[in-house]
Amino acid sequence: MPFYKVITLTADTILYLWKITEDVDYLFKSVRLKDSSLARLEAMKSESHQKGFLAVRMLLEHIGYTDFDLYYDEFGKPHIKPNDCHTEPVEVSISHSHDFSALVISEQKVGLDMEILKELTLKVAPRYMDVSHLENLSKEDELIKATVVWGIKESVFKIKNIVGISFKDHIFEDDFNLADKKCRVQLRFNNKVEHFDIVFDFIENYVCVCAMHSAPNEIG
Ligand SMILES: CC(C)(COP(=O)(O)OP(=O)(O)OC[C@H]1O[C@@H](n2cnc3c(N)ncnc32)[C@H](O)[C@@H]1OP(=O)(O)O)[C@@H](O)C(=O)NCCC(=O)NCCS
Repeated sequence: MPFYKVITLTADTILYLWKITEDVDYLFKSVRLKDSSLARLEAMKSESHQKGFLAVRMLLEHIGYTDFDLYYDEFGKPHIKPNDCHTEPVEVSISHSHDFSALVISEQKVGLDMEILKELTLKVAPRYMDVSHLENLSKEDELIKATVVWGIKESVFKIKNIVGISFKDHIFEDDFNLADKKCRVQLRFNNKVEHFDIVFDFIENYVCVCAMHSAPNEIG
């Protein structure tokens, strides 16, 4: 399948999704890669990982960037350079999960995580979240909410990109309703409190979570 969906998360934050139905050869022939990306691709052991990586490049080309515009810092966080088509600097975050690759582009710092629903995420919930937030839910919603919270923590981690942040001890989600598709989060780390707005959505049997810094006048 080609490009799957675009979701406008906020006025300046757009999520792009690729559903991977192509084989690896097709994806490989469809994109141009710089040498460092070719080396990374060749070093990947699983074909599924290769497909996810190539599908991100398909998304980039779909929206007017190429692999040559993308680079990574020493921690593995991606950044994107302006090009002839997009002259303003933007922020980027990437996630892949099984059949999907996802890319978010924003004028502000963002973190993105896409997660497939799987029982294990609920089973290990006490290790990463306040399980009182799972009370009074159906079994199905318990799994969905735990997966959203996992995605929240991954996406906040991806914005901050700081070694030492613990999902359980440093990132605290306010309780929220799944139907609202948004919530607030605090990062309490290194004697500093930071606030984040979270938006999330459901795509087939996946959840997609995006974190952004809260505007200062919205912190309450
Ligand atoms: C790096 C990490 C965020 C990747 O998340 P993931 O769910 O495993 O995988 P995803 O597919 O969602 O994300 C992978 C993408 O994240 C991006 N990424 C990698 N390191 C990153 C970092 N330090 N900061 C921001 N983004 C990063 C990359 O774009 C990568 O894809 P690409 O290399 O193909 O471009 C994750 O492995 C991690 O280290 N998490 C925090 C560690 C932790 O505390 N874990 C559990 C504690 S209970």
